Amino acid sequence: MTVLDRFRLDGRVAIVTGASSGLGVAFARGFAEAGADVVLAARRADKLEDTAELVRAAGRTALCVATDVADPAACQAMADAAMAEFGRIDVLVNNAGIGTAVPATKETPEEFRRVVDINLSGSYWAAQACGRVMEPGSAIVNIASVLGLTTAGLPQAAYSASKSGVIGLTRDLAQQWGGRKGVRVNAIAPGFFASEMTDTYQPGYLEEMRKRIVLGRMGDPEELAATAVWLASDAAGYVLGQTIPVDGGVTIT
Ligand SMILES: NC(=O)c1ccc[n+]([C@@H]2O[C@H](COP(=O)([O-])OP(=O)(O)OC[C@H]3O[C@@H](n4cnc5c(N)ncnc54)[C@H](OP(=O)(O)O)[C@@H]3O)[C@@H](O)[C@H]2O)c1
Repeated sequence: MTVLDRFRLDGRVAIVTGASSGLGVAFARGFAEAGADVVLAARRADKLEDTAELVRAAGRTALCVATDVADPAACQAMADAAMAEFGRIDVLVNNAGIGTAVPATKETPEEFRRVVDINLSGSYWAAQACGRVMEPGSAIVNIASVLGLTTAGLPQAAYSASKSGVIGLTRDLAQQWGGRKGVRVNAIAPGFFASEMTDTYQPGYLEEMRKRIVLGRMGDPEELAATAVWLASDAAGYVLGQTIPVDGGVTIT
């Protein structure tokens, strides 16, 4: 086996949540290109079908499962559908998420809870459902954010708290499951990547943020997908409980 063979995911089954737009599309395509069949989960079933076409174009099988990750029963149904179709779940990419920016004195309990329900609790419900059936050698990749590690000039208490929570969740699931179940859990903290989420920023915000990016440019989703494939693969077999910033240097300034 060569070192590059360790990055391959042939014969594996990967679930990607939030696969209907943005980074989730890049994750789905990247995992398919690495050899995995891919289960695509999000609320917009019609958009999942577009992502499924990319998976099929890479020669792999896609299964679309309309899922609201804030609902534990829906996460269980997603895992059940994957098991019914493929008989195994080797990888979970907890990518579904929403971003908000609301001043702390104005944010309602409903607004705050909604972000935490999707970004943090949703990651946990999906991990629980998949962790129950994952075999040794499986891996979970949680998509946190640099906002879980630092600030970025917007009032984002809910988002930042949810993403810091994802980093803590990653660490704890890794210590619960790494040794006992042989399931590795790690996270990625992306910096700034173009997506539907970043489309909602005020004009000028990303230009201002660019000054903090050492590499001087926004990230390419394929760079993120490559990191996710690495973390999910045997190439990262000794990496456990870590959060890897993929941010062009934002968190070192
Ligand atoms: N783009 C960036 O620069 C950046 C930076 C750091 C971290 N991130 C993280 O990367 C992840 C992907 O974000 P993105 O930038 O690709 O944004 P995006 O284009 O808005 O995609 C978000 C995805 O999450 C799904 N989603 C939202 N709520 C959901 C729910 N309740 N149940 C299931 N799926 C749900 C959406 O699908 P439906 O609406 O169809 O459900 C969509 O597929 C998020 O966790 C985000 O926090 C992004």
